[in-house]
Amino acid sequence: MPATASVGFLGLGSMGKGMATNLQKFLSSEGEAKSFQPFLSVWNRSEARLKPLVDIGAKSASVEAIARHCDVVFAMVFDDAAVRSMFQQYLKASPSAGSIFIDCATVHPDLTKEHAALAKQHGVQYLGCPVFGRPDAAMAKQLLVASAGDPAACAKVRPLLEAMGRGIIDVGHRPELGHALKLCGNFWITSVVELIAESMTLSDASGVPREVFTNLITNMYPGSFVGGYMKRMGQNDPEVFKITPENPGFAVEGAIKDTGLISQLGKQHGVNMAVADLVNQHMRDVKQQGYGEMGELVLLLRRQAGVMPGAP
Ligand SMILES: NC(=O)c1ccc[n+]([C@@H]2O[C@H](COP(=O)([O-])OP(=O)(O)OC[C@H]3O[C@@H](n4cnc5c(N)ncnc54)[C@H](OP(=O)(O)O)[C@@H]3O)[C@@H](O)[C@H]2O)c1
Repeated sequence: MPATASVGFLGLGSMGKGMATNLQKFLSSEGEAKSFQPFLSVWNRSEARLKPLVDIGAKSASVEAIARHCDVVFAMVFDDAAVRSMFQQYLKASPSAGSIFIDCATVHPDLTKEHAALAKQHGVQYLGCPVFGRPDAAMAKQLLVASAGDPAACAKVRPLLEAMGRGIIDVGHRPELGHALKLCGNFWITSVVELIAESMTLSDASGVPREVFTNLITNMYPGSFVGGYMKRMGQNDPEVFKITPENPGFAVEGAIKDTGLISQLGKQHGVNMAVADLVNQHMRDVKQQGYGEMGELVLLLRRQAGVMPGAP
């Protein structure tokens, strides 16, 4: 890799936008001893998402140009199929030996393992660096970023990972373990939403005032993400869950994808994933009933239990 490395970013969706914004700010503000070129090369499948990045100094480029000219390439696209497609296009463009490809999406660890082996054949390092935090955290540089893969490559890109978040989680030299960690972490988040939805509905149905139950749980888990979810899910208004750039949420499609991957990973390792299977089914029900955000499970359960008006 050259002394001044160039950096590319593929995928400027809800998460990628904030991550790329912070990378661009970091690259353009780096001091005299520059380790990186001062601009980010960016690509997104739909062009409309490029403008906010170009407006702050990033340069729009094709996947092929990014693969050829960037020494470090981040990918933050939706799912396994999208990451596979990006990596195939990347390799097809013959990246220089010593280049580093970093997958930040939430995908199955087997995909990462397969890609890391393929990358090695091309003299490329493949890192598994999924992130924890929602789009607002991505924009506010508050993500927790996993770092997994070849230690020398991880060390080279560490300033870039630091530029995107509030902390780095070192997972070791196997890139796929970054993605395994991500799935184990997301299992917590999706299961907590299930737990809140069921327990809050039971509390309502039993006649306990909702704020009394909410206060109990938030006092039991002070300072954790549980309080935020309890507050949001403690409301009956579907508008609260409407996902907008100002009001980011966890889209139900993402929850179906993640719980499916969690369940699959568990089964591969002989782990009984009863809760993941249940949450996956509930998320499919939420989507089928026309809801868009994971937390709306609570509205579905309230309506099914008759403690909130309206058809489920
Ligand atoms: N949202 C969260 O809270 C959150 C938190 C942590 C991690 N994640 C993970 O981060 C990843 C991105 O999530 P997100 O919330 O940013 O999703 P998103 O807003 O739906 O954006 C998805 C991105 O992937 C691109 N894409 C989808 N399919 C593609 C394909 N076949 N080829 C090329 N590009 C494709 C989209 O391009 P277009 O713009 O053209 O549609 C867009 O740039 C996912 O793996 C997700 O699970 C999400």
